[in-house]
Amino acid sequence: MQLSGRLRESVRPHRDRQQQGYVTARGREQGIPKRSGPRTGKNVLPDGNGIKPCSRCLQCCRRTLGLRPRDRGLTAPNPRTTRQDGAKRMELSGKGAQTPREDARNGEVLIWLNGRLVPRAEATVSIFDAGFGLGDGVWEGLRLVKGRFVFLDEHLRRLQAGARAIALEIGLDRDGLEGALKETAAANDMHDGVHVRLMVTRGEKTTVHQDPRNALGRPTIAIVAEHKLPDPEIKECGLSLSTVPIRCSGPDTFDMRLNSHSRLNLIQALLHAIGAGADEALMLDPHGFVSSCNSTNFFIVKDGIVATSTGGYCFNGITREKVIGLCGDNGIRCELRNFTLAEVYDADEAFVTGTFGGLTPVRSIDGRSFSVERTWTRKLSHIYETEIGVALRAGL
Ligand SMILES: Cc1ncc(COP(=O)(O)O)c(C=O)c1O
Repeated sequence: MQLSGRLRESVRPHRDRQQQGYVTARGREQGIPKRSGPRTGKNVLPDGNGIKPCSRCLQCCRRTLGLRPRDRGLTAPNPRTTRQDGAKRMELSGKGAQTPREDARNGEVLIWLNGRLVPRAEATVSIFDAGFGLGDGVWEGLRLVKGRFVFLDEHLRRLQAGARAIALEIGLDRDGLEGALKETAAANDMHDGVHVRLMVTRGEKTTVHQDPRNALGRPTIAIVAEHKLPDPEIKECGLSLSTVPIRCSGPDTFDMRLNSHSRLNLIQALLHAIGAGADEALMLDPHGFVSSCNSTNFFIVKDGIVATSTGGYCFNGITREKVIGLCGDNGIRCELRNFTLAEVYDADEAFVTGTFGGLTPVRSIDGRSFSVERTWTRKLSHIYETEIGVALRAGL
């Protein structure tokens, strides 16, 4: 049988094994050759006898050798987490601070793309788009509650400031952006329980290269509105965090205060956390003080005093600002200061903040659990949700 080049590559490991007599073309075991090397107690199958089962025939190799993973201490590669070349693949499961409740209606939503409302499947951009090739753009995540965008002014001001910082001409003023947001919500008949991602990139370029001078000068603006509420299980049980080696950086490196499209540092941080079995990453600043999480801001509470980082190295979230302000309004001491991991471990409570989830409790950090009482987290969460109601009534 003639195979195309790519296909030939993809079947090669299996084909090699067929030639060694391990498997038939259908992936069944055909006769395992005699062991050539000494057999050692653990990891017998992968290396002790020179036989490396490929992911496709793992089961039959096990059967032939009469090995049962549990009672022989077998640690053969798991086909879900291991590639055929033996390299580890990550198991990406579990929930994070941004995990929404599933909603089938989102399959049908209309996307606002450069002034047109298009079905989700048709909402595509060029591969020459600066956002696609280079992560060159800024964005905002907003909530639509009771027909209004929560803290709209703050979000639009931050978007415009971010765009100015990277010399990106959005091409729409504040009213234009608000109009586009409202048009998207109306077209989708959305009023409540909606999360919106407003994205602006430098647009199409003549070639995929970082130089902004290659941009054609037409930014890409997209508004994705989805029926999205935080997963109640996460709100109730809280998040587990893991500190990670990736640091938050300052304005001289990669200004974390910018809502940049490029999220690779944060994604890397999250990958570390997932690898450690946690939901979200807790990141330190370059000096070793606690800074923020990969998609939310971070707070601790000790003896009734709330603390968060100085804000010099983290995204200055709108929810963070609101919580800091509301603490002041409600006579709760809130300190913006440097603090260490040791202080975090010693705290009574910890929580994270973000537009999507509001305040979300943290249940454990690096395997150290917090009490489930969460008196201050509950209190502040209530104050914050009440404030949203007040802001909506005031038309803010
Ligand atoms: C890294 C990071 N931290 C914190 C937040 C929370 O910000 P906000 O409260 O404005 O939603 C976000 C949201 O975009 C974020 O990306």
